[in-house]
Amino acid sequence: PAAPPCSFVIFGASGDLTRRLLLPALYNLAATGLLSEGFSIVGVARHDQPPEEFRLQLQDSLKEFATQAVDPETAQWLLSCVTYVSGDFDNDETYAKLGRELDRIEQNGRTKGNRLFYCATPPAAFAPIAQHLAKAGLTREENGAWRRVIIEKPFGTDLESARELNRKLLAVLKEDQIFRMDHYLGKETVQNILILRFANGLFEPVWNRNHIDHVQITVAETVDVGTRGKFYDVTGALRDMVPNHLFQLLSLVAMEPPSRFDANAVRSEKAEALDSIRQVTEKEAIAMSVRAQYRGGYVGDREITSYRKSPDVMPGSTTETFAALKLEVDNWRWAGVPFYLRTGKALNKRRSEIVIKFKNAPVSMFRNLSMDELGDNDLVIRIQPDEGMVLHFNAKVPGPEIQTVPVGMTFQYKDYFEAAPATGYETLIYDCMVGDAILYQRADGVEAGWRAVQPFLDAWEKAGPMGMHTYEAGSDGPEASEHLLEKDGRTWRSLYNG
Ligand code: BG6
Repeated sequence: PAAPPCSFVIFGASGDLTRRLLLPALYNLAATGLLSEGFSIVGVARHDQPPEEFRLQLQDSLKEFATQAVDPETAQWLLSCVTYVSGDFDNDETYAKLGRELDRIEQNGRTKGNRLFYCATPPAAFAPIAQHLAKAGLTREENGAWRRVIIEKPFGTDLESARELNRKLLAVLKEDQIFRMDHYLGKETVQNILILRFANGLFEPVWNRNHIDHVQITVAETVDVGTRGKFYDVTGALRDMVPNHLFQLLSLVAMEPPSRFDANAVRSEKAEALDSIRQVTEKEAIAMSVRAQYRGGYVGDREITSYRKSPDVMPGSTTETFAALKLEVDNWRWAGVPFYLRTGKALNKRRSEIVIKFKNAPVSMFRNLSMDELGDNDLVIRIQPDEGMVLHFNAKVPGPEIQTVPVGMTFQYKDYFEAAPATGYETLIYDCMVGDAILYQRADGVEAGWRAVQPFLDAWEKAGPMGMHTYEAGSDGPEASEHLLEKDGRTWRSLYNG
């Protein structure tokens, strides 16, 4: 069904996020009948211009970034919902103007007074916007109308700043008005981890330390730092990817079954899982991690300049573009089952996957076969690309001799579902409108994530250039990352295995 009516207010309306993702996502929602007739969009940005001009810009963006053929009637309807307010985000006057605009829109009751404020802005603006909105009374929920605010990662840059941001937001908004977005939760394959685990009876009995040897989570990217040097050089691979995207995957794999499928139950279990990650000392953090930076090279036939020579990157930068960690989850389900995480940029292959490596057969009954000759039992959950899952096990090669070969039972999304081309933001935006926060982050989950990575951040900062490895752009990453697992008698699943 269509979402409830509302005004969708975008701070940072002339920015990249609005053009590339929000508008195409809103179009997709409109095209599938999921937006209410009582819908309006208010763009807020610094630039002083009449609403007509803003509408024309959006029209161009839609032409450029729509994920499907644009139906002129739908596009026209969507653009007819658009108005514009100009002003600085830290100026009271902007919010007074915005208030007048919302009053005007709400006069005829079409939007029922519901308001969704979307901060498509740099993170430094999140708290000030929330504070100004509250001060102007624009987020006060009254007469049954809801008022919600979406912010998107990064939520702070370490534990302390994340706490500070949460404190500031919670001083002016209720937790259930704050929607912290991690776009990984908009991915179908990520949501499906919950279904795999909790809509099937098959996996849960073996989903624990008795049957699982270890878990691997890989998010390998081919993109390099490109033009994002200014942001990336003060951020690095760990902050950019681990406490958010990789921990979404980790918490969905590691969480206990929630008592029911609702936002509080699910998010409590996810936060609990992250909270169980062992707090390591700085010395342990060094031993249990690898960081590296790419040198120049080729990804396919694309030439990549070395990270340090990229625009807006400090020449002697010690920011990592690759991070690998070994984490222990200290609870009854996972004691003794390491979680290995790795992520990097400018690698040879784009691949995000989770490997649940099961324990092998306890003995090799087949005398001619040593344990080493048996293939692994594992479940590979492929997040992207080639979305799907494979369960690997050993099968007998036909013939008079006993010989085995690893084979796979494969499920591929494309064999079952026709995915509508989408931005990945549709579900998240829709969920916020209907008030379902299952796919959004609660304050405790965000803080638990930062708490788990903080020892690594501290240890790396102290070590500076010491212990920083390099890898060639277009390779599989630094060798040190292989050693991290070899020390434990394990190996990463190759990025090239199907
Ligand atoms: C973003 C990071 O949050 O996620 C980027 O800032 C990264 O550095 C991106 O490239 C990865 O997202 P996806 O959806 O392409 O896997």
